[in-house]
Amino acid sequence: MKTRFFAPLFALLSLTAFAQKSPDLALTPPMGWNSWNTFGTDINEQLVMEIADAFVNLGLRDAGYTYLVLDDGWMAKERDENNQLVPDPEKFPNGIKPVIDYVHAQGLKFGIYNCAGATTCAGYPGSRGFEYQDALQYAKWGVDFLKYDWCDTENLNAKGAYQTMRDALSATGRPILFSICEWGDNDPWKWGEEMGHMWRVTGDIINCWDCKVGHGTWSSLGVWPIIKLRKDIRKYSGPGHWNDFDMMEVGNGMSAAEDRVHFAMWCMLASPLIMGNDLRSASTETIKTLTNPEVIAVNQDKLGIQAYCHSDEGDLEIWAKPLADGEWAFAIVNMSTEEETLNYDWNRHPVKDDLSGRALEAYKKTYEIRDLFNSKNLGSTQKQLSAKIAGHDVLMLRLRPQ
Ligand code: GLA
Repeated sequence: MKTRFFAPLFALLSLTAFAQKSPDLALTPPMGWNSWNTFGTDINEQLVMEIADAFVNLGLRDAGYTYLVLDDGWMAKERDENNQLVPDPEKFPNGIKPVIDYVHAQGLKFGIYNCAGATTCAGYPGSRGFEYQDALQYAKWGVDFLKYDWCDTENLNAKGAYQTMRDALSATGRPILFSICEWGDNDPWKWGEEMGHMWRVTGDIINCWDCKVGHGTWSSLGVWPIIKLRKDIRKYSGPGHWNDFDMMEVGNGMSAAEDRVHFAMWCMLASPLIMGNDLRSASTETIKTLTNPEVIAVNQDKLGIQAYCHSDEGDLEIWAKPLADGEWAFAIVNMSTEEETLNYDWNRHPVKDDLSGRALEAYKKTYEIRDLFNSKNLGSTQKQLSAKIAGHDVLMLRLRPQ
Protein backbone atom coordinates (compact mmCIF):
# COMPACT_ATOMS: atom_id res chain seq x y z
CA MET A 1 0.00 0.00 0.00
CA LYS A 2 2.73 2.38 1.12
CA THR A 3 4.93 1.57 -1.87
CA ARG A 4 2.02 2.16 -4.23
CA PHE A 5 1.46 5.55 -2.71
CA PHE A 6 5.07 6.65 -2.87
CA ALA A 7 6.08 5.08 -6.19
CA PRO A 8 4.88 7.94 -8.44
CA LEU A 9 6.55 10.43 -6.10
CA PHE A 10 9.85 8.56 -6.30
CA ALA A 11 9.54 8.36 -10.07
CA LEU A 12 8.98 12.10 -10.29
CA LEU A 13 11.81 12.86 -7.90
CA SER A 14 14.27 10.68 -9.77
CA LEU A 15 13.25 12.21 -13.09
CA THR A 16 13.94 15.69 -11.73
CA ALA A 17 17.09 14.67 -9.90
CA PHE A 18 18.57 12.97 -12.94
CA ALA A 19 17.38 15.38 -15.60
CA GLN A 20 20.49 16.50 -17.42
CA LYS A 21 21.52 17.58 -20.87
CA SER A 22 22.14 14.73 -23.32
CA PRO A 23 25.56 13.40 -22.33
CA ASP A 24 28.41 12.73 -24.75
CA LEU A 25 27.21 15.18 -27.39
CA ALA A 26 29.50 17.92 -28.66
CA LEU A 27 32.73 16.54 -27.22
CA THR A 28 34.33 18.63 -29.95
CA PRO A 29 32.73 21.85 -31.25
CA PRO A 30 29.55 21.08 -33.26
CA MET A 31 29.80 21.65 -37.01
CA GLY A 32 26.93 22.42 -39.36
CA TRP A 33 24.90 25.02 -41.24
CA ASN A 34 22.11 27.38 -40.19
CA SER A 35 19.58 29.14 -42.44
CA TRP A 36 19.38 32.51 -40.64
CA ASN A 37 22.37 34.58 -41.84
CA THR A 38 21.48 34.22 -45.50
CA PHE A 39 17.81 33.36 -45.69
CA GLY A 40 16.11 34.85 -42.62
CA THR A 41 12.56 33.49 -42.55
CA ASP A 42 12.58 32.83 -46.30
CA ILE A 43 13.04 29.07 -45.94
CA ASN A 44 11.23 26.07 -47.37
CA GLU A 45 11.33 22.35 -48.09
CA GLN A 46 13.20 22.68 -51.38
CA LEU A 47 15.90 24.86 -49.83
CA VAL A 48 16.53 22.37 -47.03
CA MET A 49 16.83 19.48 -49.48
CA GLU A 50 19.16 21.40 -51.78
CA ILE A 51 21.33 22.43 -48.86
CA ALA A 52 21.45 18.81 -47.67
CA ASP A 53 22.55 17.79 -51.19
CA ALA A 54 25.22 20.50 -51.14
CA PHE A 55 26.59 19.18 -47.84
CA VAL A 56 27.20 15.88 -49.59
CA ASN A 57 28.24 17.06 -53.07
CA LEU A 58 30.69 19.71 -51.89
CA GLY A 59 32.40 17.38 -49.43
CA LEU A 60 31.15 19.35 -46.41
CA ARG A 61 29.66 16.29 -44.75
CA ASP A 62 32.92 14.42 -45.20
CA ALA A 63 34.82 17.40 -43.79
CA GLY A 64 32.82 17.00 -40.56
CA TYR A 65 29.79 19.28 -40.97
CA THR A 66 26.85 17.35 -39.54
CA TYR A 67 23.95 19.54 -38.40
CA LEU A 68 21.59 21.21 -40.85
CA VAL A 69 19.72 23.73 -38.70
CA LEU A 70 16.50 25.43 -39.71
CA ASP A 71 16.24 28.74 -37.87
CA ASP A 72 13.28 31.04 -37.22
CA GLY A 73 10.32 31.12 -39.61
CA TRP A 74 9.62 27.41 -40.13
CA MET A 75 6.28 27.48 -38.28
CA ALA A 76 2.80 28.69 -39.00
CA LYS A 77 1.87 31.87 -37.10
CA GLU A 78 -0.52 29.96 -34.78
CA ARG A 79 -0.45 26.68 -32.87
CA ASP A 80 -3.22 24.20 -33.81
CA GLU A 81 -6.31 23.42 -31.70
CA ASN A 82 -4.20 21.10 -29.50
CA ASN A 83 -1.57 23.76 -29.06
CA GLN A 84 0.86 21.81 -31.24
CA LEU A 85 3.38 23.70 -33.35
CA VAL A 86 2.59 23.41 -37.05
CA PRO A 87 5.12 23.81 -39.86
CA ASP A 88 4.15 26.63 -42.24
CA PRO A 89 1.95 24.81 -44.81
CA GLU A 90 3.21 26.88 -47.72
CA LYS A 91 6.90 26.51 -46.92
CA PHE A 92 6.56 22.86 -45.89
CA PRO A 93 3.55 21.48 -47.80
CA ASN A 94 4.45 17.91 -46.81
CA GLY A 95 5.12 18.74 -43.18
CA ILE A 96 8.52 18.78 -41.55
CA LYS A 97 8.99 15.04 -40.96
CA PRO A 98 9.76 14.11 -44.62
CA VAL A 99 12.28 16.95 -44.75
CA ILE A 100 13.99 15.66 -41.62
CA ASP A 101 13.95 12.13 -43.04
CA TYR A 102 15.60 13.43 -46.20
CA VAL A 103 18.32 15.18 -44.19
CA HIS A 104 18.92 11.99 -42.19
CA ALA A 105 19.07 9.93 -45.39
CA GLN A 106 22.03 12.07 -46.50
CA GLY A 107 23.89 11.04 -43.34
CA LEU A 108 23.27 14.39 -41.64
CA LYS A 109 21.52 15.52 -38.47
CA PHE A 110 18.66 17.96 -38.26
CA GLY A 111 18.36 21.03 -36.05
CA ILE A 112 15.36 23.22 -35.36
CA TYR A 113 14.75 26.61 -33.73
CA ASN A 114 12.46 27.99 -31.09
CA CYS A 115 12.51 30.50 -28.29
CA ALA A 116 12.12 30.63 -24.52
CA GLY A 117 9.64 33.51 -24.83
CA ALA A 118 5.99 33.48 -25.87
CA THR A 119 7.03 34.48 -29.39
CA THR A 120 10.22 33.97 -31.38
CA CYS A 121 12.37 36.88 -32.51
CA ALA A 122 10.54 36.92 -35.86
CA GLY A 123 7.11 36.73 -34.19
CA TYR A 124 6.25 33.03 -34.47
CA PRO A 125 4.89 30.94 -31.55
CA GLY A 126 7.53 30.51 -28.85
CA SER A 127 7.79 27.67 -26.35
CA ARG A 128 7.01 29.51 -23.13
CA GLY A 129 4.49 27.32 -21.28
CA PHE A 130 4.72 24.56 -23.92
CA GLU A 131 8.25 23.33 -23.31
CA TYR A 132 7.49 19.65 -22.68
CA GLN A 133 4.93 19.44 -25.47
CA ASP A 134 7.28 21.04 -27.99
CA ALA A 135 10.28 18.94 -26.93
CA LEU A 136 8.22 15.78 -27.37
CA GLN A 137 7.09 16.95 -30.81
CA TYR A 138 10.70 17.54 -31.88
CA ALA A 139 11.74 14.12 -30.60
CA LYS A 140 8.89 12.46 -32.52
CA TRP A 141 9.95 14.23 -35.70
CA GLY A 142 13.54 13.05 -35.19
CA VAL A 143 15.13 16.42 -34.36
CA ASP A 144 18.77 16.18 -33.21
CA PHE A 145 19.55 19.80 -32.24
CA LEU A 146 17.53 22.65 -30.76
CA LYS A 147 18.61 26.28 -30.96
CA TYR A 148 16.68 28.10 -28.24
CA ASP A 149 16.46 31.87 -28.48
CA TRP A 150 15.74 34.66 -25.98
CA CYS A 151 13.19 37.10 -27.44
CA ASP A 152 9.99 38.06 -25.61
CA THR A 153 11.27 36.81 -22.28
CA GLU A 154 10.43 39.68 -19.96
CA ASN A 155 10.54 38.57 -16.29
CA LEU A 156 11.92 35.17 -17.20
CA ASN A 157 14.99 33.96 -15.38
CA ALA A 158 17.45 32.84 -18.05
CA LYS A 159 19.04 29.95 -16.19
CA GLY A 160 15.59 28.69 -15.13
CA ALA A 161 14.12 29.01 -18.62
CA TYR A 162 16.97 27.07 -20.20
CA GLN A 163 16.80 24.50 -17.43
CA THR A 164 13.10 23.92 -18.13
CA MET A 165 13.80 23.21 -21.78
CA ARG A 166 16.83 21.11 -20.93
CA ASP A 167 14.65 18.97 -18.66
CA ALA A 168 11.93 18.78 -21.31
CA LEU A 169 14.46 17.56 -23.89
CA SER A 170 15.87 15.08 -21.39
CA ALA A 171 12.37 13.73 -20.65
CA THR A 172 11.94 12.80 -24.34
CA GLY A 173 14.76 10.26 -24.07
CA ARG A 174 16.16 11.35 -27.48
CA PRO A 175 19.70 12.76 -27.57
CA ILE A 176 19.21 16.37 -28.65
CA LEU A 177 22.03 18.88 -28.71
CA PHE A 178 20.89 22.01 -26.87
CA SER A 179 22.15 25.30 -28.26
CA ILE A 180 21.54 28.21 -25.89
CA CYS A 181 21.04 31.52 -27.70
CA GLU A 182 20.61 34.33 -25.17
CA TRP A 183 23.36 36.52 -26.62
CA GLY A 184 25.54 36.59 -23.52
CA ASP A 185 23.08 38.85 -21.65
CA ASN A 186 23.01 36.74 -18.47
CA ASP A 187 26.57 35.37 -18.52
CA PRO A 188 25.46 31.98 -19.88
CA TRP A 189 29.07 30.75 -19.69
CA LYS A 190 28.64 30.71 -15.90
CA TRP A 191 25.70 28.28 -15.91
CA GLY A 192 25.58 26.94 -19.46
CA GLU A 193 27.67 23.83 -18.98
CA GLU A 194 24.93 22.28 -16.89
CA MET A 195 22.13 23.36 -19.21
CA GLY A 196 23.36 22.89 -22.75
CA HIS A 197 26.15 22.11 -25.18
CA MET A 198 26.91 25.59 -26.51
CA TRP A 199 25.86 29.15 -25.78
CA ARG A 200 25.97 32.29 -27.87
CA VAL A 201 28.29 34.86 -26.36
CA THR A 202 27.05 38.01 -28.15
CA GLY A 203 24.21 39.49 -30.18
CA ASP A 204 24.03 38.66 -33.87
CA ILE A 205 27.05 38.57 -36.14
CA ILE A 206 27.23 40.67 -39.30
CA ASN A 207 29.45 40.09 -42.32
CA CYS A 208 32.24 42.58 -41.78
CA TRP A 209 35.72 42.67 -40.32
CA ASP A 210 35.32 45.43 -37.77
CA CYS A 211 31.88 47.06 -37.77
CA LYS A 212 29.02 47.45 -35.34
CA VAL A 213 25.47 48.12 -36.51
CA GLY A 214 23.04 49.45 -33.91
CA HIS A 215 19.41 48.26 -33.72
CA GLY A 216 18.21 50.36 -30.77
CA THR A 217 18.59 48.06 -27.78
CA TRP A 218 21.30 45.88 -29.32
CA SER A 219 24.01 45.88 -31.99
CA SER A 220 25.13 43.38 -34.60
CA LEU A 221 28.86 42.87 -34.42
CA GLY A 222 31.48 42.11 -37.05
CA VAL A 223 34.07 39.38 -36.64
CA TRP A 224 36.66 41.30 -34.59
CA PRO A 225 34.28 43.12 -32.22
CA ILE A 226 32.86 39.68 -31.30
CA ILE A 227 36.31 38.19 -30.72
CA LYS A 228 37.54 41.15 -28.70
CA LEU A 229 34.41 41.28 -26.56
CA ARG A 230 34.60 37.62 -25.53
CA LYS A 231 38.26 36.66 -25.63
CA ASP A 232 38.45 36.50 -21.83
CA ILE A 233 35.81 33.84 -21.11
CA ARG A 234 37.94 31.00 -22.42
CA LYS A 235 38.02 29.09 -19.17
CA TYR A 236 34.29 28.30 -19.44
CA SER A 237 34.56 26.49 -22.77
CA GLY A 238 35.58 22.88 -23.27
CA PRO A 239 34.47 19.40 -24.39
CA GLY A 240 30.65 19.17 -24.23
CA HIS A 241 30.10 22.91 -23.56
CA TRP A 242 31.29 25.63 -25.92
CA ASN A 243 31.41 29.39 -26.19
CA ASP A 244 29.50 29.95 -29.42
CA PHE A 245 30.86 32.93 -31.37
CA ASP A 246 27.80 32.73 -33.72
CA MET A 247 27.07 31.32 -37.13
CA MET A 248 29.83 32.12 -39.59
CA GLU A 249 29.72 34.77 -42.31
CA VAL A 250 32.35 33.01 -44.45
CA GLY A 251 31.25 33.39 -48.09
CA ASN A 252 28.87 36.25 -47.30
CA GLY A 253 30.75 39.21 -48.72
CA MET A 254 34.07 39.75 -46.96
CA SER A 255 37.26 39.24 -48.99
CA ALA A 256 38.68 35.72 -49.36
CA ALA A 257 41.51 36.69 -46.98
CA GLU A 258 39.09 38.08 -44.38
CA ASP A 259 37.03 34.90 -44.67
CA ARG A 260 40.19 32.89 -43.99
CA VAL A 261 40.89 34.97 -40.87
CA HIS A 262 37.28 34.57 -39.70
CA PHE A 263 37.41 30.81 -40.21
CA ALA A 264 40.87 30.46 -38.67
CA MET A 265 39.77 32.40 -35.59
CA TRP A 266 36.56 30.37 -35.10
CA CYS A 267 38.78 27.28 -35.25
CA MET A 268 41.30 28.76 -32.82
CA LEU A 269 38.54 29.83 -30.41
CA ALA A 270 37.06 26.31 -30.44
CA SER A 271 33.75 27.86 -31.47
CA PRO A 272 31.05 25.71 -33.04
CA LEU A 273 31.55 25.90 -36.81
CA ILE A 274 28.08 26.66 -38.13
CA MET A 275 28.16 27.87 -41.73
CA GLY A 276 25.75 30.68 -42.62
CA ASN A 277 26.16 31.06 -46.37
CA ASP A 278 24.19 29.79 -49.36
CA LEU A 279 26.04 26.54 -49.97
CA ARG A 280 24.35 26.07 -53.35
CA SER A 281 26.13 29.07 -54.86
CA ALA A 282 29.30 29.08 -52.75
CA SER A 283 32.54 29.79 -54.63
CA THR A 284 35.33 27.24 -54.88
CA GLU A 285 37.47 29.51 -52.69
CA THR A 286 34.80 29.62 -49.96
CA ILE A 287 34.42 25.84 -49.94
CA LYS A 288 38.19 25.43 -49.93
CA THR A 289 38.39 27.57 -46.79
CA LEU A 290 35.47 25.84 -45.07
CA THR A 291 36.73 22.33 -45.78
CA ASN A 292 40.46 22.72 -45.07
CA PRO A 293 41.09 19.55 -43.06
CA GLU A 294 44.16 20.78 -41.22
CA VAL A 295 42.45 23.97 -40.10
CA ILE A 296 39.33 22.07 -39.03
CA ALA A 297 41.53 19.67 -37.05
CA VAL A 298 42.61 22.60 -34.89
CA ASN A 299 38.98 23.35 -34.09
CA GLN A 300 38.22 19.69 -33.43
CA ASP A 301 41.23 19.10 -31.19
CA LYS A 302 40.12 16.86 -28.36
CA LEU A 303 41.43 19.09 -25.56
CA GLY A 304 39.01 21.82 -26.66
CA ILE A 305 41.07 24.73 -25.31
CA GLN A 306 40.02 28.16 -26.56
CA ALA A 307 42.93 30.18 -27.97
CA TYR A 308 44.27 33.34 -26.35
CA CYS A 309 46.03 36.38 -27.72
CA HIS A 310 49.69 35.72 -27.02
CA SER A 311 51.12 39.00 -28.27
CA ASP A 312 51.06 41.56 -30.97
CA GLU A 313 53.99 42.55 -33.06
CA GLY A 314 52.80 45.84 -34.50
CA ASP A 315 49.88 45.02 -36.73
CA LEU A 316 50.42 41.28 -36.41
CA GLU A 317 48.38 39.64 -33.67
CA ILE A 318 49.56 36.24 -32.54
CA TRP A 319 46.93 33.86 -31.17
CA ALA A 320 47.95 30.58 -29.55
CA LYS A 321 46.00 27.38 -28.85
CA PRO A 322 47.46 24.40 -27.01
CA LEU A 323 46.53 21.13 -28.72
CA ALA A 324 46.62 17.52 -27.60
CA ASP A 325 49.92 15.58 -27.55
CA GLY A 326 52.05 18.62 -26.81
CA GLU A 327 51.22 20.33 -30.12
CA TRP A 328 50.23 23.97 -30.61
CA ALA A 329 48.29 25.99 -33.16
CA PHE A 330 49.07 29.62 -33.93
CA ALA A 331 47.14 32.15 -35.98
CA ILE A 332 49.20 35.18 -36.93
CA VAL A 333 46.70 37.75 -38.16
CA ASN A 334 47.56 40.85 -40.11
CA MET A 335 45.16 43.44 -38.66
CA SER A 336 46.23 46.09 -41.18
CA THR A 337 45.20 46.30 -44.82
CA GLU A 338 48.84 46.45 -45.99
CA GLU A 339 51.17 43.49 -46.39
CA GLU A 340 53.32 42.91 -43.28
CA THR A 341 56.52 40.96 -42.78
CA LEU A 342 56.91 38.62 -39.87
CA ASN A 343 60.32 37.78 -38.46
CA TYR A 344 59.76 35.59 -35.48
CA ASP A 345 62.44 34.10 -33.32
CA TRP A 346 60.82 31.27 -31.35
CA ASN A 347 63.75 31.08 -28.95
CA ARG A 348 63.21 34.63 -27.83
CA HIS A 349 59.45 34.26 -27.34
CA PRO A 350 58.57 31.64 -24.76
CA VAL A 351 54.87 30.85 -24.97
CA LYS A 352 53.00 30.05 -21.78
CA ASP A 353 49.30 29.51 -21.33
CA ASP A 354 48.34 30.17 -17.72
CA LEU A 355 44.93 28.55 -18.15
CA SER A 356 46.17 25.14 -19.30
CA GLY A 357 49.60 25.43 -17.71
CA ARG A 358 51.11 24.50 -21.07
CA ALA A 359 54.35 26.04 -22.25
CA LEU A 360 56.19 26.06 -25.54
CA GLU A 361 59.86 26.44 -24.78
CA ALA A 362 61.58 26.45 -28.14
CA TYR A 363 64.98 26.98 -26.49
CA LYS A 364 64.59 23.55 -24.87
CA LYS A 365 62.66 21.60 -27.46
CA THR A 366 62.38 21.78 -31.25
CA TYR A 367 59.02 21.87 -33.02
CA GLU A 368 58.27 21.19 -36.69
CA ILE A 369 56.18 23.97 -38.25
CA ARG A 370 53.35 23.40 -40.69
CA ASP A 371 51.55 26.16 -42.63
CA LEU A 372 47.93 24.96 -42.56
CA PHE A 373 46.27 27.07 -45.26
CA ASN A 374 49.08 26.41 -47.74
CA SER A 375 49.67 22.76 -46.69
CA LYS A 376 53.42 23.36 -46.48
CA ASN A 377 56.15 22.46 -44.03
CA LEU A 378 58.13 25.52 -42.92
CA GLY A 379 61.06 23.90 -41.15
CA SER A 380 61.49 24.04 -37.41
CA THR A 381 61.54 26.43 -34.47
CA GLN A 382 65.35 26.30 -34.54
CA LYS A 383 65.42 29.02 -37.11
CA GLN A 384 63.62 32.35 -37.27
CA LEU A 385 60.28 32.22 -39.06
CA SER A 386 60.08 34.81 -41.81
CA ALA A 387 56.91 35.31 -43.79
CA LYS A 388 54.95 37.92 -45.64
CA ILE A 389 51.29 38.14 -44.66
CA ALA A 390 48.89 40.03 -46.91
CA GLY A 391 46.54 42.66 -45.47
CA HIS A 392 43.70 41.19 -43.38
CA ASP A 393 45.08 37.71 -43.97
CA VAL A 394 46.41 35.03 -41.67
CA LEU A 395 49.29 32.64 -41.37
CA MET A 396 48.00 29.64 -39.50
CA LEU A 397 50.54 27.21 -38.08
CA ARG A 398 50.64 23.88 -36.32
CA LEU A 399 53.73 23.10 -34.26
CA ARG A 400 54.56 19.50 -33.48
CA PRO A 401 57.34 18.52 -31.05
CA GLN A 402 60.15 16.70 -32.84
C1 GLA B 1 17.99 36.11 -32.88
C2 GLA B 1 19.17 35.14 -32.92
C3 GLA B 1 19.55 34.89 -34.38
C4 GLA B 1 18.35 34.30 -35.12
C5 GLA B 1 17.16 35.23 -35.00
C6 GLA B 1 15.88 34.61 -35.53
O1 GLA B 1 18.34 37.36 -33.33
O2 GLA B 1 20.25 35.66 -32.21
O3 GLA B 1 20.65 34.02 -34.45
O4 GLA B 1 18.05 33.04 -34.59
O5 GLA B 1 16.91 35.60 -33.64
O6 GLA B 1 14.78 35.45 -35.43
